[in-house]
Amino acid sequence: MSTAPSPTRVQREPQLAGQTVVLIGGSAGIGRETARRAQAEGAEVILTGRDPERLEQAARELGALSTAAFDAADPDRLERFVADLPRPIDHVLVTAGGPYYAPLAEFDFERAHRAVDEHLWLALHLARASVGKVRPGGSLLFMSGTQGHRTVGLSLGAALIAAMPALIANLALEVAPVRVNLIAAGFVDTPLSASLLGDRLDERRDELRATLPIGRVVGPADVAALAVHLMANTALTGATYDVDGGQQLL
Ligand SMILES: NC(=O)c1ccc[n+]([C@@H]2O[C@H](COP(=O)([O-])OP(=O)(O)OC[C@H]3O[C@@H](n4cnc5c(N)ncnc54)[C@H](OP(=O)(O)O)[C@@H]3O)[C@@H](O)[C@H]2O)c1
Repeated sequence: MSTAPSPTRVQREPQLAGQTVVLIGGSAGIGRETARRAQAEGAEVILTGRDPERLEQAARELGALSTAAFDAADPDRLERFVADLPRPIDHVLVTAGGPYYAPLAEFDFERAHRAVDEHLWLALHLARASVGKVRPGGSLLFMSGTQGHRTVGLSLGAALIAAMPALIANLALEVAPVRVNLIAAGFVDTPLSASLLGDRLDERRDELRATLPIGRVVGPADVAALAVHLMANTALTGATYDVDGGQQLL
């Protein structure tokens, strides 16, 4: 009689043991969930956001090392924050900033400029400020979207989605041996999605459950798992990683 082999339990070291992770936009959504996961992998976390109350609440719940409330699209404030960090940093994830959708006839150029500040300029300012602050082999991680196809109202959004992978690949060369990567997400079920969709949120979730190849909605934990992998895997730099449950195939 043969006996079935007993299952082997996989045991491993925490992936970010002893490391420090900065979450720029860490008080909600993907940033907050990545902070939680990075801590579970042994890291200490520093959180930023604009709303000080929401930030303090997240920091209390997570036991963050420290917090700083400021607008990350303000380059002087961002550079000062990085310069003042009290210790070498291992990884920075930027989840600050949101999308700007509007048909050309209704375009608000002030808001559009702000969207460019929050994505292109923020990435350049952060990358320059990080030299000498983020340790060699550490990483900078940015967010973008996968939904860059031609749709009325998406002119600027599509341009930014197209630009970000090129920017990130070049920054990876400029700041090496610090690594730089980009996460491109489809719909993620976060407070941002809730505020954009309002009372159409449940309908959108149902539609995605019915149509996405994965048969469920992508949540912040799915993106956080990818973010922590990109921090820990020191072979990865200059690349864009999609996480959208197959949304772009539809
Ligand atoms: N959710 C999606 O479906 C989706 C899809 C593709 C890409 N993305 C991108 O992924 C990123 C994170 O999205 P999310 O859904 O996690 O958003 P979220 O739920 O709104 O969380 C964003 C976090 O960033 C902070 N933040 C926003 N703007 C900031 C600024 N200018 N300076 C400092 N902190 C700022 C927010 O706090 P305060 O508001 O207090 O500052 C909050 O902590 C965004 O860039 C978003 O455009 C999201």
